[in-house]
Amino acid sequence: MNVPFIRPRRLRVSAGIRRMVRENTLQAADLVYPLFIVPGENIEEDIASMPGVYHFSADKAVEVARKVYELGIPAVLVFGLPAYKDEQGSSAWDMHSPVQQAVSRIKEALPELTVITDVCLCQYTTHGHCGMLHGHKVDNDSTLELLAKTALSHARAGADMVAPSDMMDGRVLAIRQMLDQQGFHDVAIMSYAVKYASAFYGPFRDAADSAPQFGDRKSYQMDPANAREGLREAALDVEEGADILMVKPAMTYLDVVRQVKDSFDLPMAVYNVSGEYAMVKAAAANGWIDERRMVMEMLLSMKRSGADIIITYHALDAAQWLKEEA
Ligand code: PBG
Repeated sequence: MNVPFIRPRRLRVSAGIRRMVRENTLQAADLVYPLFIVPGENIEEDIASMPGVYHFSADKAVEVARKVYELGIPAVLVFGLPAYKDEQGSSAWDMHSPVQQAVSRIKEALPELTVITDVCLCQYTTHGHCGMLHGHKVDNDSTLELLAKTALSHARAGADMVAPSDMMDGRVLAIRQMLDQQGFHDVAIMSYAVKYASAFYGPFRDAADSAPQFGDRKSYQMDPANAREGLREAALDVEEGADILMVKPAMTYLDVVRQVKDSFDLPMAVYNVSGEYAMVKAAAANGWIDERRMVMEMLLSMKRSGADIIITYHALDAAQWLKEEA
């Protein structure tokens, strides 16, 4: 028998052929850009652990949101640093807090830009945990109403979508019921469905001033050792009415992204988190890596693993690079 000598390299000989057979691509439309909002006016402050990312006051956030929109990025994800904290985290649902203020100003200026809000209590509580404390335990059920109230305040400010990141059980249902009761049927829920207790959130907790004051988040966020449990978390959120599922962090959990993608028919998001960003920026600042090539390869790997939506601090740079390549 004459066995043919197979040459896969034939399909790599030119840029044109490589483009023809390319299985996955990255577009600006895949990206979401996170924003950190602080109280005040005319503020744009560096975040030490996240070079290139800033604390913005609501007015400045509108300017950045315009840049996001003009680059073809469809959405921003809004986080807030409140003016005050208490045991309950009541500034989370205060209509005068930075998130609510920024959301209404961004929607007024750029009605076509999708505005997503992070729903959690850790930035708003004095203890820095994502829910109500009973002693030193984070109590699930008494937290649900507060999360629902927070989501409602975001919807009232004009948010198109809310993204609960707290990892309390039953929160997607609690939020869905509250939004529906109050007439916000069209406000979607992007659930941080599969969220791990990860060291990769370190720089974010500096940026958002949200580190727990005692203990850790291991009693509510997932054990990094578990993948099958992620499918269970995702299934519950689908039943409770989530519109989009998220896996977080991204790079160290691409196997989970693929499994969730293959198991559910909802759009899939990944969160390329602060620690992943900080590692790249630090290596780039030292001249050790080619930042542009490395970022594009990382983001593409998320697409290849099944992500439809990538939340990333690299979004502005990546969209600019994509424009230059077009
Ligand atoms: C709030 C929240 C966190 C992140 C997003 N929402 C921090 C945490 O859970 O401690 C992390 C984002 C990042 O690291 O970029 N619960």
